[in-house]
Amino acid sequence: MSHSHFLRGGRIIDPDRGMDATGDVLIVGETIAAISTRRGALSPPEGAVTIDCEGMIVTPGLVDPHVHLREPGGESKETIASGAAAAILGGFTTLCCMPNTNPPIDLPSTVEFVLQRARAASGARVFPSGAATVGRRGEQLAPMGAMAKAGAVAFTDDGDCVASAGMMGKVLAVCASLDKAFMQHCQDPTLTEGGVMNAGVVSARLGLGGWPSVAEEVIIERDVRLNRIHQCRYHAQHLSAGGSVEIIRRARGTGQPVSAEASPHHLLLTDDACGTYDPVMKVNPPLRTDADIRAIIEGIVDGTITVLATDHAPHTASEKSRDFSEAPFGMIGIECALPLYMKALLDSGAIEWPRLVALLTLEPARLLGLAERGIGRLFESGPADVTVIDPNHRWTIDAQAMRSKSRNCPFHGWQVRGRAREVFVAGSRLLSAGAPAGAPQTSTHATHAN
Ligand code: DOR
Ligand code: ZN
Repeated sequence: MSHSHFLRGGRIIDPDRGMDATGDVLIVGETIAAISTRRGALSPPEGAVTIDCEGMIVTPGLVDPHVHLREPGGESKETIASGAAAAILGGFTTLCCMPNTNPPIDLPSTVEFVLQRARAASGARVFPSGAATVGRRGEQLAPMGAMAKAGAVAFTDDGDCVASAGMMGKVLAVCASLDKAFMQHCQDPTLTEGGVMNAGVVSARLGLGGWPSVAEEVIIERDVRLNRIHQCRYHAQHLSAGGSVEIIRRARGTGQPVSAEASPHHLLLTDDACGTYDPVMKVNPPLRTDADIRAIIEGIVDGTITVLATDHAPHTASEKSRDFSEAPFGMIGIECALPLYMKALLDSGAIEWPRLVALLTLEPARLLGLAERGIGRLFESGPADVTVIDPNHRWTIDAQAMRSKSRNCPFHGWQVRGRAREVFVAGSRLLSAGAPAGAPQTSTHATHAN
């Protein structure tokens, strides 16, 4: 459906041009036909659907550079279609999915398969990352050039670290030559054997295997050292430890093209949450401490951390009902991330809306090389990927009501504020008054606070 839509009177934020003003956005077909911040200067053309956006935030569609969509091979946890649909409910219009599937995404044919499924899904746009090494085993370079040609937007062995320094150097060199980001899952496996949660007083009390922060820090330290030679766009995924922030800060200070991301759970939960042995709290890297949260937020405030990412990691209920030590690592987040970021970063006064929008749109789009295609930005003649956020919408996170195929959400039952109300992808209205396209137009579990 590519009708015209007239988004009237919202607070328009485009981090690329530094725009933050009240105005109107006109969507015609697949593109943004006009943006005006002069009151009444723009009027809707005949037949356009007018959407009242007063009190709403109008942003580029949100971009999540780190999700696990499980296809191929893990379709009982999630599919590309279910993940792409869940993303829309969360306000996300672009996803980068991880290659730890079965088989892994380590061949151009698998990249093509994912892109094909994504096109058929008609939800958020999905761009695959490719594995850096064959089978994600860290032993042999994967055909990254051919995967990049097929459409892989970045490379990572996520789920596992590229642990060997020799292999890491080779991967950085190839990624630099392809101008693709390498996204590291920072975990020295020799330091995390038997680890299932943060190593500290809580793991000692619970008698669970500890996973120390230094396992993350030594990899980042080593990688930025190696990358002095290669100057690849190196990106550290899901930072959990305060010490890691310091290393990234120093590397950026020397001008290296290094970046890092933070995830909702590492901003809002500590290892205390593991105190009841609830496997939903088991994640890799693990939940840390209040001091780590403060350091990560400080890193966001001072511009060390420029990207937010959910690490949406669905698992079946039966897998997640095993003992804490046996259950798989990971938690879902795509449908509730936005209000959680707002809670961690806006409510605390750490940053303001324009910065939050940059962390969720322009910066991840740049990381993935998608900003040059217009993704993560709002401009006339650009792709009409737009999210309208109701910042005052109060709701209760309900894992059972989620569109994802999985339920392993650690934020189930949290009362939050802020939700996507309208979502457009290439001009198609996929979320309308809080309800997915095709569904009745009443927003489901909604109450308005204002
Ligand atoms: O907790 C995690 N789950 N961390 C990862 O790095 C991988 C992910 C998964 O695939 O389940
Ligand atoms: Zn990871």
